[in-house]
Amino acid sequence: MFDRIARRYDLLNSLMTFGRDRGWRQRAVSLAGPRPGARILDVGTGTGALALDFARATRETTIVGVDFSAAMLSRALRTVPTELSASRVRFVRGDGMRLPCADSSFDHVVSAFAVRNMSSLAGAFAEQARVLRVGGRLTCLELVPTGLPVFRHLFRQYFHRWVPLLGGWIAGDPTAYTYLPRSVDAFPTPAEVARLLREVGLVDARFEVLALGTVALHTAVKR
Ligand SMILES: C[S@@+](CC[C@H](N)C(=O)[O-])C[C@H]1O[C@@H](n2cnc3c(N)ncnc32)[C@H](O)[C@@H]1O
Repeated sequence: MFDRIARRYDLLNSLMTFGRDRGWRQRAVSLAGPRPGARILDVGTGTGALALDFARATRETTIVGVDFSAAMLSRALRTVPTELSASRVRFVRGDGMRLPCADSSFDHVVSAFAVRNMSSLAGAFAEQARVLRVGGRLTCLELVPTGLPVFRHLFRQYFHRWVPLLGGWIAGDPTAYTYLPRSVDAFPTPAEVARLLREVGLVDARFEVLALGTVALHTAVKR
């Protein structure tokens, strides 16, 4: 599915979120606050938007973006500015449920709108915890099943009616954009996500909600 929508993915993201998705990723970068020299892993990197935001906003960091969609990765490679490619940003094809990375090899593991699509959320977080070094930080941006109560009805209408239409018109793939609201509905609340992060052994699990309660930014630390 992600291979099919890769070509129009960034455009649709901007349209669906009215351009706000860039601000959410930038907030994730500033909350993670990597130090110079940090090693950062972006799981489910897609077209590399979050990986590149980290690269631009930080100094001397190295960033690896992992994704299992070859079409998404090939778009990511095309968007990396030459001065960043190879030396600081790399993209690797791999499964977020079985990361092709050694234990304790990253200072930061980050993801944006990716873990919702994985076969087990607890399994994905456990895998991310495995590759974090002790004291390393997990940062996860995800959608929230229900927005603030007053907007709930409006968001449901928007997600279930307009998003599939937009996906049909622009990506030519209404199925993928019908899957999107369903995957959000099936996703746990931010409090439940924080509980899962603790269950996989991470500490200091916190979250903040953005975009009128429709997006959550989670952080947790490896003990
Ligand atoms: C909604 S996109 C998010 C992309 C990007 N992080 C962003 O912020 O735009 C989800 C991405 O996760 C990837 N993905 C889903 N399940 C995965 C898995 N098990 N292993 C690796 N990548 C996965 C998809 O291929 C897709 O590129």
